[in-house]
Amino acid sequence: MIGCGAIGTTLAGAIQDGKAGDVHLDVVYDVLPESASQLVVKFNAEKPHIAANIGEFLDHRGITLVIEAAGQQVAKEMVPMALKAGKNVMLMSVGALADPALLDEIYRTASAVGLKVYVPSGAITGLDGVKAALIAGIDDAMIVSSKPPEALRGAPFIVENGIELDKVKSRQKIFEGNALEAARGFPQNLNVAISLSLAGIGPSKTKVVLVADPSLKKNVHEITVRGPFGVVTAKTENSALPGNPKTSWLAALSAIRKLRDLSEPISMGT
Ligand SMILES: NC(=O)c1ccc[n+]([C@@H]2O[C@H](COP(=O)([O-])OP(=O)(O)OC[C@H]3O[C@@H](n4cnc5c(N)ncnc54)[C@H](O)[C@@H]3O)[C@@H](O)[C@H]2O)c1
Repeated sequence: MIGCGAIGTTLAGAIQDGKAGDVHLDVVYDVLPESASQLVVKFNAEKPHIAANIGEFLDHRGITLVIEAAGQQVAKEMVPMALKAGKNVMLMSVGALADPALLDEIYRTASAVGLKVYVPSGAITGLDGVKAALIAGIDDAMIVSSKPPEALRGAPFIVENGIELDKVKSRQKIFEGNALEAARGFPQNLNVAISLSLAGIGPSKTKVVLVADPSLKKNVHEITVRGPFGVVTAKTENSALPGNPKTSWLAALSAIRKLRDLSEPISMGT
């Protein structure tokens, strides 16, 4: 596992408790060695090895799956390297796949070597229906994400446009655009927009609205997808993950579930 922050630590706990199926955590890496040490210390027996860098991590014998829970930049650099080293990948920083050239490279590399890149649903629901609907065609896809203003602090779009989040006193639309623009403007907030895009009609056609709402304690994502099949609407109200108020608990749970599915004999859902 690369990245021993909020999601990494939650995943490690689930692996240790047997909630993630037949998975063994062999080696971890974090750019902050103390974060890796804090994670490893929680393991009673067979503590995972702490790698000193990504090269040593990928050279570690016996690993079949690399879990990325570190950030978009790490994902961009690491996924092609991991595939070339013969490892499957599970990717949390799905915003990295907003780059069409990288997406294409990953697709081609994984296909050529017969490996998989798993992208858990993360903080949204309804992707099962969207994927199925795409077979018959999707006319339009949209996500409205509502967050407490504080959750948006530091995002490039907020900084570049001089938006004063302290002055947002009631529900206010902050951004409207497509998922590509959303991923650029809010790299840490709108992984969900790229997840919806990749399950559906792609980032340039997927509409994104971002709302700041000071009355909210949770991040709320509402997707609406229309096509000849009918309409999918799915609303998810996310409690924050203990350890990182910017990260939704469901995102970590979806990764645990994805790991568990890899070792289950029956595959539920599309
Ligand atoms: N798909 C989704 O719906 C979804 C939801 C929430 C979070 N995420 C993404 O998952 C990722 C992890 O989230 P989190 O809440 O655990 O974040 P976090 O900040 O709590 O943890 C990230 C960890 O990665 C480490 N890290 C940073 N740069 C690194 C590098 N170059 N090499 C190795 N380690 C590095 C940090 O030191 C930190 O320990 C983020 O990119 C976040 O945007 C995705």
